[in-house]
Amino acid sequence: MKDFFKNFQSQPINYGNASHAFYDIMKWVQLNRPKKNPNIIMPAYIPAKLYRYVLAAGYEPRFYDVSTELDFSIDEIRDLIDDQTQMVFAVHFFGVPVDMIPLKKMTQEMDVFLLEDCAHTLDSHLNGNILGTTGDFTIFSTRKMFQYHCGGFLILNKKPWNFQPSKTTKVSSLFTGYHLLGSRVKYYLNHIARGKNVIQKVSTPVVHYIDFDEEQTVTVKRMDHLLNWTYLHTNLEELTRKRRENISYLWNHIEDLETFSPVGFERLSIKKSEPRSSGSGNQSNQQKLQPIEGYVPFSLPIITPPGTRNYIQQELLSRGIDCYIGWTEAPFGMTGFPETEKLQTQLLELPIHHFINHYQLEIMADCLNNLEIPQLLDTPPIKAGKQEPIH
Ligand SMILES: Cc1ncc(COP(=O)(O)O)c(C=O)c1O
Repeated sequence: MKDFFKNFQSQPINYGNASHAFYDIMKWVQLNRPKKNPNIIMPAYIPAKLYRYVLAAGYEPRFYDVSTELDFSIDEIRDLIDDQTQMVFAVHFFGVPVDMIPLKKMTQEMDVFLLEDCAHTLDSHLNGNILGTTGDFTIFSTRKMFQYHCGGFLILNKKPWNFQPSKTTKVSSLFTGYHLLGSRVKYYLNHIARGKNVIQKVSTPVVHYIDFDEEQTVTVKRMDHLLNWTYLHTNLEELTRKRRENISYLWNHIEDLETFSPVGFERLSIKKSEPRSSGSGNQSNQQKLQPIEGYVPFSLPIITPPGTRNYIQQELLSRGIDCYIGWTEAPFGMTGFPETEKLQTQLLELPIHHFINHYQLEIMADCLNNLEIPQLLDTPPIKAGKQEPIH
């Protein structure tokens, strides 16, 4: 991780999670460059949590549509900017990289900040540009990328003022330790049991919510020791290698890639020959799909046929695979975001993180290859668990 941080203009500023970093930078910008009615231009496809944090920071959110390729229209963003705009917020959803360079040019010309969201990726690059280095400010979520229960950090690529994080409380080590231990035990047991979910526990997606009648408040939390320790001891190369290997397995083993359409597949995969030794000792070549250089995924987002997403999720859950469905609350009842509405009902995330083992990958591919897809007859969404605060 130490080498990774050398790519940035600042050292990481650690938080309880990435949302806290997001909130803190919004507050800091408004404090140092106050606007009467500050607004932030942001994707309509986001977790309610981020929407709440925007309101808590005193900003008006202005939304743009997110395509089923998890991309955006720069013209749509430009049209939303006015003299009260503090920043544009752009996300590399599920690790699918977006080209930040044109956005950077535009935000510089219009004198607004660019906030880059790398919560779903780490150590990725696109066309030689390291993700997280373009935004004036970037948030990362170690919680998500390292499979912890807490943790995130802020990077400042531009330092117009001497940024000071909020003076605040710390995430309890006991809370972190308990959850960390629980998740690691689950992963190792799963491996020993060859992909069987022996403890019969799948994590259901959290309920995201926003109550517009309530005043939105946030208590920013920081977290230093564990994160600093992690930065010293994480083998980033191994983590990214495993994620890339796992996504590659699914690309190569899901038979019907047209039905289970992986987002960004055309531009993120490349066919490469892999030498394979045949029984006779001769070498033969096999063409395999591999991720393009620099792509480090969070999950494998797929666009399921209309009306089938919840059914497919239930089938995977019943085989012990934790798989999420993005943010079903977005676009928050608003109209005019047709692509986000498709994501709301059709997106499914296949887990490919570094603790997913070979047996689980086989289970996923086998499940999708043998599913009888019902025609436009979706089941109700999975009853979800409650969103937990961090302590
Ligand atoms: C796209 C995106 N950005 C930022 C965040 C915030 O990350 P964290 O959970 O670490 O606060 C999330 C969390 O759900 C997210 O999905």
